[in-house]
Amino acid sequence: MSPSTRELSPADLLSLGLAFWKAKALLAAVEIGIFGELAKGSRTSVELSSLLGLEGRGVEDLLDALVALGILTRNDGRYANGVAAAEHLVPGLPGYMGGAFELANSRLYPTWGSLGKALRTGLPQNEAQVEDDYYDNLTRHEQRLRVFLSAMSGLSMASSRAIAEKFPWGEYGTLVDVGGAQGELSVGVARRHSHVHGVTFDLPAVQPFFAENVAASGFADRLSYVAGDFFSDPLPAGDVIVMGHVLHNWNLEQKKLLIQKAYAALSPGGVLVVYEALIDDARRENAFGLLMSLNMLLVTAGGFVFTGAECTTWMREAGFVETRVEHLQGPDSMVIGKKPA
Ligand SMILES: C[S@@+](CC[C@H](N)C(=O)[O-])C[C@H]1O[C@@H](n2cnc3c(N)ncnc32)[C@H](O)[C@@H]1O
Repeated sequence: MSPSTRELSPADLLSLGLAFWKAKALLAAVEIGIFGELAKGSRTSVELSSLLGLEGRGVEDLLDALVALGILTRNDGRYANGVAAAEHLVPGLPGYMGGAFELANSRLYPTWGSLGKALRTGLPQNEAQVEDDYYDNLTRHEQRLRVFLSAMSGLSMASSRAIAEKFPWGEYGTLVDVGGAQGELSVGVARRHSHVHGVTFDLPAVQPFFAENVAASGFADRLSYVAGDFFSDPLPAGDVIVMGHVLHNWNLEQKKLLIQKAYAALSPGGVLVVYEALIDDARRENAFGLLMSLNMLLVTAGGFVFTGAECTTWMREAGFVETRVEHLQGPDSMVIGKKPA
């Protein structure tokens, strides 16, 4: 039985309606620095309050709630990071996903407060209300851009790993990651496939963040950056073009344009890989993908998430053949299409 047809109990409804409590407990813990502090060693609630400058009231409740949620452990009154927290919530570690939660806390949480208004008006509830391109605004604010890019790495880490593993890289030499941000995907593919050279194509303001990340990865000799605007510039040529979490930002006409530009830039026999939290074709199962689409309503002028079938249709219209949809991990799937040789 799919989650959508399961009978919910009153307790299920309550848990769903107040799910933001759990979310906000995690986001606040990231915000006040709990996981970084616990990475240095276990602490009592009193020690954490003093080290993090917290007043004290509520701290034990927060910490014990995080224990109950499986994020922290507690032994003899001393708190420690659980396994996932130690790997993914400690700033500075390669597996850090906290950037996604920093973005969620500072930007998405307040914006989601206006979901009703967005539905009544059809308008985004952030700066995209007055500026067509969310990214124009973002790239003018260095600190916001840093948080955004770190969030993208956090959100895409698991799918980047899955693409590095599942895609038949042995058949291809060059990867062009369009809207590739800090180069998370290129680094993942370069790490596993020593013959692949990667090009990340993104806006000029993103380049320093890519350079920093790629230098730290040790693969700078095989990974390069082309700065440009994918609406006004041609895309770099390559054997595999990836667009990950890119098409969801744009309206239908813009989505189709980007797919056509990928087709033009690919070598004959090359492939386009689109990956997203693709909505299942029946629009019943992938709640995360559907909620991501609402997120696009809230933060972009025309963006929406789509099904594998819709993306396949757009790719076939552009000339792609042998299209297929493959699950990656969690809510993410990829659509692959080949440019005829
Ligand atoms: C939602 S992020 C996805 C990042 C990455 N592919 C991932 O899956 O995490 C979209 C990316 O597209 C880039 N972008 C937005 N508008 C662009 C444009 N006009 N030209 C080139 N890149 C652009 C952004 O800077 C950002 O890195």
